[in-house]
Order: sequence, then C-alpha cells, then structure tokens
Amino acid sequence: ARVAVIVPAAGSGVRLGEDSPKAFVDLGGSTILERCVSGIIDAGIDAFVVVVVPAGLIARTRQLLPGVTVVEGGAHRSESVRAGLEACAGADVILVHDAARPLTPPEVFGRVVDAVLAGHEAVVPGLPVVDTLKRVLPGADAESVAETVDREPLRAVATPQGFTRAALLRAHADDAGLATDDAGLAERCGIEVAVVPGDPLGFKITTQWDLRIARMLVS
Ligand code: C5P
Repeated sequence: ARVAVIVPAAGSGVRLGEDSPKAFVDLGGSTILERCVSGIIDAGIDAFVVVVVPAGLIARTRQLLPGVTVVEGGAHRSESVRAGLEACAGADVILVHDAARPLTPPEVFGRVVDAVLAGHEAVVPGLPVVDTLKRVLPGADAESVAETVDREPLRAVATPQGFTRAALLRAHADDAGLATDDAGLAERCGIEVAVVPGDPLGFKITTQWDLRIARMLVS
C-alpha cells in the first residue's frame, strides 16, 4: 500500500506564546517541524510526506525540508488537512500527524498503519486517562462541580490518526468546522474508529510547560 502522512503545521501557536509559529520554534537545535518529519521518516513506514504551513513560511520550509512536499494551510486545522489531502493523490493509506507531536515514537506509526492495513477505516492512538475528571458548571466567582465522570472508558487521543483514503475523503467532505481531530469528522459520518495503544511521548506541545518538557527530553 502507498502511505502518505499529512503534517498540519499551519497553526499560529498563540497558546505557546513564542515569537514564531509553533512548528518553527526550536527544539534542541532544530525546529519542532523538522523533528517531527525526521520522526516520520525514522518510523520506517516508507511514506510520502506532505507538510502544511502558513503562506509566509512555504519558502523557508522547503529549505528546511528538501524533498518534502510543502503546501499552504488554512485558517482552521481541518482546512489545512484538506490542503494536504489534495497533494496525496496516489496514497491508499493516509495518516494525519500534528507537527506539534514531534516526539511520537516509531512504534505508534507502525501500529496505526498496521491497523488500517488490517481493515480498519479509521485508527487513532489512545491512552487511558490518569486524572480524576469532573464536569463543571460556570459560577460567579468559582466553577462548581456537577459530577465526577467515570474515566475508565475514556481515552486521551493523539496523532498519527490513520485512514483509508476513502474514509478520510468522506470525513472531510462535509466538515461543519467543529471537530478538533480528523477522527471526529469520521465519527460524525458513521465511520467506525479503532483505537490502538498510544505512547506518552506522543504528547502535544501546546503550552510553555510542554515545551520545557520536550526540551528536557531531547537534551
Ligand atoms: O492548535 P493545536 O496544537 O491543536 O494544533 C494541532 C496541529 O494543527 C498543529 O500542528 C498546528 O500547526 C496545526 N494547525 C494547522 N492549521 C491551522 C491550525 C492548526 O495546520 N489553521
């Protein structure tokens, strides 16, 4: 099977609060995006890689990642993914992997690809939730707890998320703009999503705290 990986890297990184967009922030001597792409290549899944970046960073990205296809992203993550999808014409299995998860181990890519090849239309890596979860209600000076949610059946889901080409196209055909991941779009059109074990190293760099941890891990 021909495998492609779309890497959405067109976010602004407002929550991280650095000068550059998140994917272009330094992580131990190279950008988060370069680390992420090296991780995909080192995973040994022999994939065609498409990176999606903000318009103003296309030329720079082509310099950083020679040989990788680079396209312009959109205002929302799902628009960026669709821009990437247009560049994956020949692929039968398509993974979508956030640039913001540069430390994802090779085994996770392998598990996701294998599960798609085994017949699952959509596959996500998931981890059990360790914290106690409470649903809250807004309040004047403090939120109040409405209930404690049973965490046993919950999974924290990451990327790479893998799809058959047909499933990913269907998922994105009717995007109401609310889903925070591609599997969410697939679910809404009735596609069954399989969960394979994720890895804590697949965490997303969102805040300064995450960036500190990531820098410690690569040092
Ligand atoms: O904001 P968040 O960290 O959840 O974004 C997940 C991934 O989606 C990031 O790698 C980010 O660069 C990407 N993204 C994108 N286009 C957007 C917004 C986010 O490619 N418009």
